[in-house]
Amino acid sequence: MTVEEKIGQTLQAARDYLVSDSDIAKYGLGSVLSGGGSGPRFNDPAHWADMIDGYQRVALSSRLGIPILYGVDAVHGNNNVRGAVVFPHNIGLGAANDPALVEEIGRITALEMLATGARWNFAPCVTVPRDERWGRTYEGFGESPDLAGPLGAACIKGLQSGGLGSPTAVLATPKHFAGDGGTSGGRDRGDAAYSEDDFMRIHVAPYADAIAAGARCVMVSFSSWNGEPCHGSERLLTGILREKLGFKGFVISDWGGVSLLPGSYEERIAKAVNAGIDMIMVPDEYARAAGAMRDLVTSGAIRRERLDEAVRRILTVKFEMGLFERPFADRSLLAQVGSLERRSVARKAVAESVVVLKNEGSVLPISGKKKILVVGPRAKDVGAQCGGWTLTWQGVRGSSVPGTTIMQGIVEAAGPGVRVEYSRDGTAPAGFEPDLAIVVIGEDPYAEMKGDSSDLALPAGEKRLVAAAASLGAPVVAVLLSGRPLIVTDELGKVDAFAAAWLPGSEGAGIADVLFGVAKARGALPCSWPASIEQVPVNAGDGRPCLFPAGFGLRP
Ligand code: BGC
Ligand code: BGC
Repeated sequence: MTVEEKIGQTLQAARDYLVSDSDIAKYGLGSVLSGGGSGPRFNDPAHWADMIDGYQRVALSSRLGIPILYGVDAVHGNNNVRGAVVFPHNIGLGAANDPALVEEIGRITALEMLATGARWNFAPCVTVPRDERWGRTYEGFGESPDLAGPLGAACIKGLQSGGLGSPTAVLATPKHFAGDGGTSGGRDRGDAAYSEDDFMRIHVAPYADAIAAGARCVMVSFSSWNGEPCHGSERLLTGILREKLGFKGFVISDWGGVSLLPGSYEERIAKAVNAGIDMIMVPDEYARAAGAMRDLVTSGAIRRERLDEAVRRILTVKFEMGLFERPFADRSLLAQVGSLERRSVARKAVAESVVVLKNEGSVLPISGKKKILVVGPRAKDVGAQCGGWTLTWQGVRGSSVPGTTIMQGIVEAAGPGVRVEYSRDGTAPAGFEPDLAIVVIGEDPYAEMKGDSSDLALPAGEKRLVAAAASLGAPVVAVLLSGRPLIVTDELGKVDAFAAAWLPGSEGAGIADVLFGVAKARGALPCSWPASIEQVPVNAGDGRPCLFPAGFGLRP
């Protein structure tokens, strides 16, 4: 390999920033990614396969013909692809705490990726969110490393099922190393101020499980640890990850994370690579990065041995994956994407994730009701169920994600003898006197950067829906769709039953299964639930008060 060819392997470009597809061969890029929501104009699994195979053909046309690893964020199913099953976000899977189910979800996600040619998943997120004001709280399994470790490991086993070289496996990436969930105030990309002991015990611990489960790639966190950005931290990326934890795979930076380091463009790259980053998610200026790397290797600021080591790690994983033998999409898997059988696994996961926080007068499970009013637009909104990282980066409202709504699930579970009506705003249709109201409330979809919240308040419109439902004179069941605990103390007082359903994904019917007792409620809070914003942050063991402790969940 020439120096240029080696450098190319260490760079990952985002497809939106490719000046020309032929640049993949020209620079010998090691990888291309789809950022959140970046896909073919016509979004279906077959067009994804055509798109990724197209990039792969360019890579194979280069002098050495080294295949690219195509990366996506399939963080709750292959969620960028329209028609794929969308599973609950990790916080819901933390509430379910069923490792076998998480492994099965990983296995299905891998198959839905392989159908499209994407062989590399930037998942699982094994973050340990300690302050719910953070907008990425839902990407983690909960506030304890005892959830993130085992469930992250189960996800990796599922994604890499049969072993990395198997045709049923994709490459998993535990992220974001480390301390992303520990930043002060829950600020995205902020600083985690922790002693080494606490940092290791809370934020690094899940990576030991991930490595034991076969993780061959780790993504670095945008955040800092005691003021030092993770992207430039040799102590973290080499001392702790490799020397202490024994990691042997390759390390990828996060999106543009290297350019956030201080110093000149060249200084930042040298710092990151010398700290232990093997592949740079550039993602835009790959030509500039290639030139800078060339100069740094020539000047010795990056030693040739360091470059060789990074390339060896990347190519070793490509060989282990059988990428050279099977570089293209497995189109025999296309017909099964989004199948009913897979949706039934997602529906089961949704049911397991629901946490019942209140059940006065044993309203749940619902039985013997004849006239049910379902209140709130989120009852008919698969997009709201899915949250961020679904079709687009920040997520979508409405019906563009195929799946079942909560309303559909209620109608099905209630059965033929029950009249179920829908009301957007809580006013009952003329002449209809409900004997039960089910109000669905929640947060709008969001992802990183846009999702941070200073008050965790339930939006005013949602509060009005609860008040409207409560004024009907019938018992009220509230269902909350949210990526984290919100301050709902007042609303809890207005309703008879309250269920936290997190961000369940495409199969909303799983929520109705729990409300009607088709499935037994078994979810337990993966995080402490604050009564007021003044109680935040609150985590088990810190001796601070909260409304419901982690682990709480009624079993009606
Ligand atoms: C996120 C990562 C993600 C990457 C690629 C970043 O902004 O922090 O979690 O894998 O983008 O989309
Ligand atoms: C991309 C995401 C990425 C983010 C980082 C977005 O434009 O779609 O994948 O994580 O930028 O800032």
